[in-house]
Amino acid sequence: MDVIVVKDYESLSTQACRMVSGQVQSKANSVLGLATGGTPEGMYQALIEEYAAGNLSFQETRTFNLDEYIGLPTDHSLSYHSYMYKQLFNHIDIPPENIHLPDGNASDLQAECKKYEAFIHEAGGIDLQILGLGHNGHIGFNEPETSFASRTHIIELDNETREANARFFEQKEDVPKRAITMGIETILSARKVLVLVSSADKAEAVKDMVCREITSAFPATVLQKHPAVTVLVDEKAALRLPQERITRYE
Ligand code: PGA
Repeated sequence: MDVIVVKDYESLSTQACRMVSGQVQSKANSVLGLATGGTPEGMYQALIEEYAAGNLSFQETRTFNLDEYIGLPTDHSLSYHSYMYKQLFNHIDIPPENIHLPDGNASDLQAECKKYEAFIHEAGGIDLQILGLGHNGHIGFNEPETSFASRTHIIELDNETREANARFFEQKEDVPKRAITMGIETILSARKVLVLVSSADKAEAVKDMVCREITSAFPATVLQKHPAVTVLVDEKAALRLPQERITRYE
């Protein structure tokens, strides 16, 4: 696990953009695993700017998002489909057929999970997976006690997760109770993983992810087992990290 500390959210977004751009420039048909949430928004904005400046093309890139709510219409403003088009896809040259998100409105949700895994497999697996980190250690929507052997599956969202995401909805009751998420094994199968964490309220979670023994009680600890993980954090999120676990400051 390489732990890189940068000054602030802006530097985090720039650095993350650099890593994703590097991936796409070195392999045009890269398969990217994408995340939603507040943290990657700056990175997406920076990628749009790189694209607009003519430094980057996504013509051959394929994308798979980590998760999607169950039961929220696809065109609902708070679905992860809508998020991704608004934050990135509407502004770059990626062909629509290269974009994949789980369908949280599929009539057969189990079949949808299987199909999603099959698509990832057919695409040749994920080259670079972007992750955020939940306060409770979730990665994707893999809440505590999710099996490390899980593939794309249906999950009941934790109360804490629904509370954290309530900030986007009018009221907590509106936050869907279930989601489809890539499983932990799906995430671990990615060739490279980039975890982005910003802000002081995640400092304890960052410390747990990096320092705590590997435990399904805090799913992100499983990333310690992956051979190519970069954890990119700003100074506030790094506040509780022991000095010896920090690879470098940039
Ligand atoms: P955030 O969420 O980027 O909105 O903080 C990350 C997560 O909960 O996975």
